[in-house]
Amino acid sequence: MNVKHLQDEILKLKSQNDVIILAHYYQPIEIQEIADFLGDSLKLSRTAKEASTEYIIFAGVDFMAETASILNQDKHVLIPNPESCCPMAAFLTPEKVLEFKKNFPKTPTVVYVNSTATVKAESDICCTSANAVNIVKKISKEFEVNKVLFGPDANLGDYAEQFSKIKTIKMPPEGHCYVHSQISIEDIRATKNQYPNAKVLVHPECIREVREFADFVGSTSQMYNRIKNASSDEHEFIIGTEIGLLERMSQDFPDKKYYLAKEKLICYNMKKHNLELIKYLLENLDDKFHEVKVPSEIAKKAIQPIEKMLLYS
Ligand code: 13P
Ligand code: SF4
Repeated sequence: MNVKHLQDEILKLKSQNDVIILAHYYQPIEIQEIADFLGDSLKLSRTAKEASTEYIIFAGVDFMAETASILNQDKHVLIPNPESCCPMAAFLTPEKVLEFKKNFPKTPTVVYVNSTATVKAESDICCTSANAVNIVKKISKEFEVNKVLFGPDANLGDYAEQFSKIKTIKMPPEGHCYVHSQISIEDIRATKNQYPNAKVLVHPECIREVREFADFVGSTSQMYNRIKNASSDEHEFIIGTEIGLLERMSQDFPDKKYYLAKEKLICYNMKKHNLELIKYLLENLDDKFHEVKVPSEIAKKAIQPIEKMLLYS
């Protein structure tokens, strides 16, 4: 079945069922095209919280579907490919968080949403790349301290520290995203030399040197909006994030030119979903193998830092 035909079948099945499809910007473009809502982690969490359908198909990595499940314990959250996970989350376990908390008493724990539900359950507040600076400022003020525990992304932690002026103790110092951290300063300089008039936009999961070289640092939605609101004399952009966002922007703003900061910026974990799997799910909404259900005792604890984040941002 060709892509267009599959997409039509999916749209038809979707209209016959009580379901919405949420997709992250890093999804394959043909999935982005059939989604009801597209966004960054923050927008998708908010949308999942407000969802009124019985079923939510989440085309993103596991922590995103888990967050949707935590916020909707009475709904069915389905993931097209249950093997789609974020390797960054593996840098932090609940045991490690408890050890850090023991070593740094009275210090608030900020956990990036790119983490497991059990890790979130041990935190004081969650954050996303869109609100990390603000969350660190607010939680440190609430606890009346000038430092926070922050994990698992040490680069986002460093970014939050730079702009909040609050020390972030990295849990652990080596936590990183394999997609963003591979962009080196040499890569970004070389791309800029090739396209000297292009504005450089990068994700806060990039290393500090790359972030400091960029004209703009932000979450995927913030980068999207930066381009949406670009002035008429800005025609070219170098994109320092996963290729899916570049494909989205090429479709939505085709009058601009986009260049990837380096070749092959692909999150293979995000690309594990496909249209066939989504069609299968729409035909088998009660398939338990694809359902993401966070055990209620963990969900009850993990919902608190997520809701606090949504309140604070
Ligand atoms: P955003 O929240 O910016 O979409 O980031 C999610 C992510 O996984 C980045 O790698
Ligand atoms: Fe995780 Fe990086 Fe993929 Fe985002 S791009 S889902 S942080 S591995």
